[in-house]
Amino acid sequence: MDAVPVGIDFGGSGIKGAPVDLDRGEFIGERVRIATPQPSTPEAVAEVFVQLLGKFPESTGSVGVTVPAVVRNGVAGSAANIDRAWIGTDADALLTEATGRDVHVVNDADAAGLAEVRYGAAAGRRGLVILTTLGTGIGSALVYDGVLVPNSELGHLEIDGQDAEKAAANSVREKHDLSWSTWAERLTTYYRTLEKLMSPDLIVLGGGVSKHADKFVHLIDVETEIVPAKLKNQAGIVGAALWAAEATSG
Ligand code: BGC
Repeated sequence: MDAVPVGIDFGGSGIKGAPVDLDRGEFIGERVRIATPQPSTPEAVAEVFVQLLGKFPESTGSVGVTVPAVVRNGVAGSAANIDRAWIGTDADALLTEATGRDVHVVNDADAAGLAEVRYGAAAGRRGLVILTTLGTGIGSALVYDGVLVPNSELGHLEIDGQDAEKAAANSVREKHDLSWSTWAERLTTYYRTLEKLMSPDLIVLGGGVSKHADKFVHLIDVETEIVPAKLKNQAGIVGAALWAAEATSG
């Protein structure tokens, strides 16, 4: 059997990881969570990764890591909710050096998109699938016929002079205590814009709030089929492990 890969979800508040069974798209054993160090500099985070990987001694495969940032060839080009020192850092090289493992970093929404297309709500779907994660910000993944086009950043579409995620992210709903229907109106504006610009075949709605999908998805008024994500909070870790395994095998 191939060595088991590990997926790590690196966010502003927590760093979560688990070994992943890529045949099923599921965790092998328990997920481990360690609080994100503050400040979340690359060096401090690398130390936490060493600690985390030490919890999975049997999983010796490559390591995939999600980051809330644009990532090109392993180099972070932005940093949402993490230390700005990540910008310009060759994260693949730094984390590979620090952990002694083959590490591959990927944008968080891109990882979730990969996982949903391979194992979840968009499994087997062709054409253009757009996954959006509704969380602190809005992340996006564009997947065409199963192939990811990375770093789409569609949460930053400018709508009515405003960054879309500042109006429609789940954190905005929570902060302003918006009702589901008021939030759904904002999401309708957002997804209609996405529809007009991208003509997707399917929209997948991810992020932690997708577990409450029955409260608001039916209120989003768009023409495109829109479905909640299936892997819930596992999508990032599973997608990261998949990303790393494919980078290594390619
Ligand atoms: C960032 C994206 C990220 C998304 C979700 C946005 O603010 O620009 O890179 O995918 O938040 O974390």
